[in-house]
Amino acid sequence: MKLLVIGSGGREHALVWKLAQSPHVTQVWCAPGNAGIGMERVARTGAPVECVNIGAEDLPALLAFALERKPDMTVVGPDNPLAMGVVDLFQKHGLRIWGPTAQAAQFEASKVFSQQFMEKYGIPCPRGGVFTDPALASQFAAELGGKCAVKADGLALGKGVIVCRNMAEADAAIQRMLVHREFGQASARIVIQELLDGIEVSFHALCDGKTAKLFPTSQDHKRAFDGDQGPNTGGMGTYSPTPFLTDTELAAAERAILGPWLRGCAAERIHFCGLLYPGIMLTRTGPKVLEFNVRFGDPETQVYLTRLENDLVELFDACLTGTLDRIQLRWRREAAVCVIMASAGYPGKYEKGKPITGLNEVAQLENVKVFHAGTARAGDAIVTNGGRVLGVTALGKDLSAARETAYAAVERIRFDGAFYRRDIAAKALNYRAPSGVSA
Ligand code: AMP
Ligand code: GLY
Repeated sequence: MKLLVIGSGGREHALVWKLAQSPHVTQVWCAPGNAGIGMERVARTGAPVECVNIGAEDLPALLAFALERKPDMTVVGPDNPLAMGVVDLFQKHGLRIWGPTAQAAQFEASKVFSQQFMEKYGIPCPRGGVFTDPALASQFAAELGGKCAVKADGLALGKGVIVCRNMAEADAAIQRMLVHREFGQASARIVIQELLDGIEVSFHALCDGKTAKLFPTSQDHKRAFDGDQGPNTGGMGTYSPTPFLTDTELAAAERAILGPWLRGCAAERIHFCGLLYPGIMLTRTGPKVLEFNVRFGDPETQVYLTRLENDLVELFDACLTGTLDRIQLRWRREAAVCVIMASAGYPGKYEKGKPITGLNEVAQLENVKVFHAGTARAGDAIVTNGGRVLGVTALGKDLSAARETAYAAVERIRFDGAFYRRDIAAKALNYRAPSGVSA
């Protein structure tokens, strides 16, 4: 089988790495890919993965490439091409592509759509309202005592959510979005949600339109600095599994969230083929959905695919043929931890082109895989080429061992201005279950 993977981040490196291990695969292209992706090889043939210089949002060029090279399956990593309709476009031309259509991608592309869907189908979620009028929005925020999340309806590069603690902050956020249109058309409508308190975790579920298969839980670290301080980022590290839900609680959450979600999709005639990633808050009254994403998380993918035992090509194929119900997901018992190494200044301005050393040494370590995100080749050297540069990922017999191995590897990798959080997975290791049983 020949595969085309769309995207260039750590998530796509993990997808390519896992897909290339499948005995079904003979060739892999990645558009546009990165330096680490270009160093992967297809296990069956030994052929190198080929990076193709086409941007993930250049739909006409992606289509032309696919029509010429005829991949047997295309896999989409990021959200933007999905919202732009890359799946619809490929399907129209008879190409097989894994991921949701633009209609199904609305779960991520429109917060208004998601909030209304969750309320209509009884999916546990924060109390919320949809507004275009600043005065009505302010009135609702006041009902919540100013403690609310103000969300731009559309995609806003991950910056469209403002968490407010009082009315002054809420009014300022409403003004920025509805009046000053800081996010353009994306903030012509907003959702205001009550602010929930609890531990945040990531759910991931593979879907074929009828069946959804839930992964174990993972947790991201969105703030830039230790102790959840500093600005929001794309994610500074992840681990899986988390100790916050027992197996019984996870099964109950699956029934409460994925059950009505699937029923709602059927009722609305939304055929969802791909990966659903609900962001979850574990509240005192149970897990609630803060938002939906319609793609793998980054860096959640790095820990999930390190633990996944199934052949990923077979899983994607089952999504496309509607046969997920026949498949059982299998996970390594070991825990996985991913620590992101970022460029100084990220998520704000940062410099590129800094040479990275230590990668060859770390490649010799057992139970460690370095997934590249913002990297490029400069002659023989690998240099930084983005904010999030590397996702150093380790497996261990438990979280504590995985964490130790990941950090030992991180310490051997150097580039000018490198920074990383030192507390990835610390919350899990310090956690004591409410019953008093240690996790
Ligand atoms: P999002 O971009 O929708 O993932 O939101 C960014 C972050 O805002 C989430 O990861 C949460 O930490 C926080 N957030 C969003 N909605 C809520 C809410 N209703 N209550 C508490 N925190 C929230
Ligand atoms: N880990 C955050 C995201 O992928 O949106």
